[in-house]
Amino acid sequence: MIEAPEQIDDLNMLDWLIAAGADEAIGDEPVNRFEAATAPNTVKSINQRPNQQANSQLNAGPHSSAPRPVTPRPVSPTNGAGFEAAATIAAAASTLEELKSAMEAFDGGLLKRSAKNTVFADGIAGSELMVIGEAPGAEEDQAGKPFVGVSGQLLDKMLAAIGRSRQTNTYISNIVPWRPLGNRTPDQSIIAMCLPFIKRHIELAEPKVILMLGGVAAKSLLDVDDGITRIRGKWRDLTFSGQKYAAIPTYHPAYLLKQPAQKGMAWRDLLSIKDKLASNS
Ligand code: URA
Repeated sequence: MIEAPEQIDDLNMLDWLIAAGADEAIGDEPVNRFEAATAPNTVKSINQRPNQQANSQLNAGPHSSAPRPVTPRPVSPTNGAGFEAAATIAAAASTLEELKSAMEAFDGGLLKRSAKNTVFADGIAGSELMVIGEAPGAEEDQAGKPFVGVSGQLLDKMLAAIGRSRQTNTYISNIVPWRPLGNRTPDQSIIAMCLPFIKRHIELAEPKVILMLGGVAAKSLLDVDDGITRIRGKWRDLTFSGQKYAAIPTYHPAYLLKQPAQKGMAWRDLLSIKDKLASNS
């Protein structure tokens, strides 16, 4: 069951309604169902047989408060749902374009249905450096590109400080390609479902170095429970399908915006990446 939000403000309530599946407005005028339920003619209509009810809905005029019939939205073709399907589909993709199309056609459940876009990647595929964040926010969902909001602006500055940019030599993606409702931290089941996609994404993009931004990206890819403060700045080998990638976690730019005193630590990590890339080439 989907719990109602503790703090009820308009945005929370909208998120909750979407999560509960009420993602479409079917009338122009709000209807007070509590009042309607006590009105005698409504009691009668509740007792109508289904086909009578359908007819009375179809006959409702434009100003009637009766609910209008809902035209089902065309269901877009999907190529499977859940972790197993994600793993099969991801493994079958042999190019980044194929992977992107497969993810767009994948049934990612409520998460995907509530997102506008599959936020696949930005930057130069095949770059030595691949940056991986957590999940798109509202602006990224709207633009269909990762890290275009305020965190993205800080990320661009961080990259520029070590001679990197998404326009020239860096590739950027996220663990979860669909915006979680209400910008929440994606839960474990969602991360598990999306992991085959990002792992295949890494294999196809072939970076030398992976920068993981924040605890969610680092813990999901490294499969560890330690917090980001403990693991940041430490190099680890990530191995998928027999291929090794040098990977390092650092603080997420969103965290650095709230805790600017930690920027020094992130700067150290960036310098370590610069050295690693220089020694790799
Ligand atoms: N935060 C992320 O982790 N990823 C984005 O794309 C944007 C904000």
